[in-house]
Amino acid sequence: MTSTRTTATAERDVPPPALSAQDLVVEYPAGRGRKVHAVSGVSLDVAAGETLGILGESGCGKSTVGRALIQLPPPDSGTVRLGGVTLTGLAPGELRRARARMQIIMQDPVSALNPRRRVKDLVWEGPSIWGSGDATRGKDTRIDDALRDVGLDPATVRERRPHELSGGQCQRVCIARALLLDPEVLICDEPVSSLDVSVQAQILNLLETTTRRRGLSMVFIAHDVSVVKNISDRVMVMYLGKVCEVLPSDGMQHEALHPYTRLLLASLPQAQRGPGRAGDPAPPAELPSPLNPPSGCRFRTRCPLATDLCSQQEPPLRDIRPGHRVACHHVEPERNHT
Ligand SMILES: Nc1ncnc2c1ncn2[C@@H]1O[C@H](COP(=O)(O)OP(=O)(O)O)[C@@H](O)[C@H]1O
Ligand code: SF4
Ligand SMILES: [Mg+2]
Repeated sequence: MTSTRTTATAERDVPPPALSAQDLVVEYPAGRGRKVHAVSGVSLDVAAGETLGILGESGCGKSTVGRALIQLPPPDSGTVRLGGVTLTGLAPGELRRARARMQIIMQDPVSALNPRRRVKDLVWEGPSIWGSGDATRGKDTRIDDALRDVGLDPATVRERRPHELSGGQCQRVCIARALLLDPEVLICDEPVSSLDVSVQAQILNLLETTTRRRGLSMVFIAHDVSVVKNISDRVMVMYLGKVCEVLPSDGMQHEALHPYTRLLLASLPQAQRGPGRAGDPAPPAELPSPLNPPSGCRFRTRCPLATDLCSQQEPPLRDIRPGHRVACHHVEPERNHT
């Protein structure tokens, strides 16, 4: 009884994360009884107003994590909590309502928009699916406000169809559609990767200012180190379906300790990377198959520091210092960190 009360008090003192996931596992069937081990025990949390970046090369499971978070499809195992509500196991109607509080922005804005619909209808798609009885109240004003919020002129774009807009404008329409539902969490999966370089910075700037102004939490997924580093408060680095390091983005180039994160940072131009470190790993070899991941540490086949232990035991994700977690047998917690 006493211990229950103590736990409850302790939980009240720490505000729950806006979004958290525990031990997500996603495996895709690959024929002949084989499985793609796309995501293998990933946990994360995102505080209110925080941006968590998910970084890793193509095929490491970033999009699968993003989809598991919004339960489309739900993970094979593991739990997702949004604002204290566990999404896993909700009835379909409840899940749909909860999902409206977490919106996703995809990589290819053109294919994310129904080509036959006009911008005004595309932006209103959310309320028309999730809306309550008063969904049409102030509809035109809300559509125009949403378009203005993302830097589009309503009079110019309202009646247009996606093919009459640029890629950047289409992504703004996707963002307007998501924000109109007033979500608490935005999941952005490579939101600028398909856009011209000249437009990328504008969309990143829009996402950054919008989330800050609204106090929105964001999960920002990308393979580009400098993009993730610049927009995120914390960065979670993934390799072959596992988390290898979670650390603050500020000073990441000096603080990163996992050999894979060091390798990613070594791929940045010198000006963005800061001073190099002795022992930075060589450029990457091929990613092993997620059908048959290496035993022990999944990074061991490419790691310059690998030892026998690395093939025998999986390194746990450990706190190295406050706010910094690393999964590597050869990175020790700071001595005064317990
Ligand atoms: N629907 C699917 N069916 C089978 N394999 C998939 C499917 N989606 C993704 N994969 C595989 O799962 C792994 C992780 O993919 P993904 O999450 O898309 O990675 P990322 O977004 O980091 O590029 C990859 O090996 C990919 O080929
Ligand atoms: S556990 Fe071993 S193989 Fe894995 S990153 Fe650390 S040193 Fe490299
Ligand atoms: Mg992806």
